Amino acid sequence: MRRLEYRGYDSAGVAVVADGEISSRKKSGKLSNLLAELEERPLPESLTGIGHTRWATHGGPTDQNAHPHLSDGGRLAVIHNGIIENFAELKQELLAKGVVFASETDTEVAAALLGDIFRNKLGGDVSDGGLTRAMELACQRLEGAFTLLAVHADQPDVVVAARRNSPLVVGLGEGENFLGSDVSGFIDYTRRAVELGQDQIVTITADTVEITDFFGAPAQGKEYHVDWDPASAEKGGFSSFMEKEIHDQPDAVAQTLLGRSDLNGKLTLDELRIDPALLKQVDKIIVLACGTAAYAGMVAKYAIENWCRIPTEVELAHEFRYRDPIVDANTLVVSISQSGETMDTLMAVRYAREQGAKTISICNTNGSTIPRESDAVLYTHAGPEIAVASTKAFLAQITAAYLLGLYLAQLRGNIFSGQIKDVLADLGKIPAKIQKILDNAGPLRELARSMKDEKSVLFLGRHVGFPVALEGALKLKEIAYIHAEGFAAGELKHGPIALIDEGQPVFVVVPSPRGRDSLHSKVVSNIQEVRARGARTLVIAEEGDESVRDYAEHVFYVPETPTLLMPLLTTVPLQIFAAELAGAKGYDVDQPRNLAKSVTVE
Ligand code: F6R
Repeated sequence: MRRLEYRGYDSAGVAVVADGEISSRKKSGKLSNLLAELEERPLPESLTGIGHTRWATHGGPTDQNAHPHLSDGGRLAVIHNGIIENFAELKQELLAKGVVFASETDTEVAAALLGDIFRNKLGGDVSDGGLTRAMELACQRLEGAFTLLAVHADQPDVVVAARRNSPLVVGLGEGENFLGSDVSGFIDYTRRAVELGQDQIVTITADTVEITDFFGAPAQGKEYHVDWDPASAEKGGFSSFMEKEIHDQPDAVAQTLLGRSDLNGKLTLDELRIDPALLKQVDKIIVLACGTAAYAGMVAKYAIENWCRIPTEVELAHEFRYRDPIVDANTLVVSISQSGETMDTLMAVRYAREQGAKTISICNTNGSTIPRESDAVLYTHAGPEIAVASTKAFLAQITAAYLLGLYLAQLRGNIFSGQIKDVLADLGKIPAKIQKILDNAGPLRELARSMKDEKSVLFLGRHVGFPVALEGALKLKEIAYIHAEGFAAGELKHGPIALIDEGQPVFVVVPSPRGRDSLHSKVVSNIQEVRARGARTLVIAEEGDESVRDYAEHVFYVPETPTLLMPLLTTVPLQIFAAELAGAKGYDVDQPRNLAKSVTVE
């Protein structure tokens, strides 16, 4: 549960089957509250149990609303991820039958439905499937997204689980089996995992795993080997997962580049199993993602349009399908998602596929839903990202998007092979450059600590520096709870400059002076404009750029690199700044309030 806590951490609970009964404990707040409760009121020893860490949807994060929820007179326990969309209607039905509810959750309705079916419809008969059969019948009635796990005191050796639109994997052990929202819950015990399909039910005992569909027909899962190192899901000596993951970035970029080009500088993305002829026909690219992943998409747009000359739009996935977008067979939809489970992105990809688009997923989580439902996948190899605020996945997403852009350009003959070779060589140098930034972050950390009482910080950038500014602001908002906004520097004079007052901290991401001259000098002018109005200017610039010194209170230099690749470097100081500042405020940087790692609800 500790490993999965990052997915949701506003309450937690467990239930075990022991001595012919269900025993359960649950507590609002972090897992440590549940641990304290378990020390005070230990559970009986048991070999069958379920546990849950919650991110509240229906009903606030209270003890009552925490999972598990019990039914069938306390003999059945259920935990649930997702949202049961028809819960109100089902609740009315169950209330009419006299069921009494103790919480405000949709989960309790699912538990009550399952209990009602088990006891009243099947007569509590466990000889013919029992809980599994009840789960089938319950799932036939449920609408929405759910992963459900259930145990029953009458079937003490069994855990039954079901999934629709929400993740669930099985871990195959020796004389023991596991279920988890992702493999990190059980990689200490087994590397053999089985990925379940949509609308499937799995029944496990210590020795058996049986999969069916919602109507009892036998079904197959797909077994795979987990090659994540359990140590990579540990903090490795850093104060937080976020710090560790910031330091993992040289490796995350290097791993994502690995094996994807040959010695002649030719991209070899064989994993992209889409007919190259179809990719050549693409006349529009739409990048779909949310949050940080969408900022990676914005960076991708600059690179893809520059290299491929294909019009590229970036859209927040949750906005996309509600506006009747123009999508056809010549549209390539590229989704970007660390978790591969973000419901908004998944639904947008499904919609695009239904409209005939080709879909490629850029994803960090092997076997997750979005890549499974896409025509092809380009995995980022950042390793498990545990901290809620995304860092290394972001850089790996940008790296993968560059590779995709270069691949399309190569396929369509847009740029010379020599040019592709040069970009790949520049990308190959990025990990060492990130390391240099990490090694020289002392003054930046000092500045962050001194700014822990700031109320508002602004971030400016232009061209690829614009999404970097947005990302810098998002990091600060989500982990330090400081009001922060990112702006395109050119937009400043159209309104936001009115915010600038004496002492207002403003980060400015400055493009390379070796790039387009006008771009660099315009941003330097923007620094002067805000400084003239009293702002404290904190500048991220390229090594050797002396032109910014006169207008900056602090300059943080990043190594030289071509303009389009700069986000892989300029983002890093902003991540460090946010993590250090939030740490100085005493906040839990890995588990910021109100957030969850995988947002599996719409
Ligand atoms: C911010 C952050 C989120 C995610 C977003 C999409 O630090 O992590 O904004 O980027 O929720 O998540 P994925 O990439 O899993 O689809």
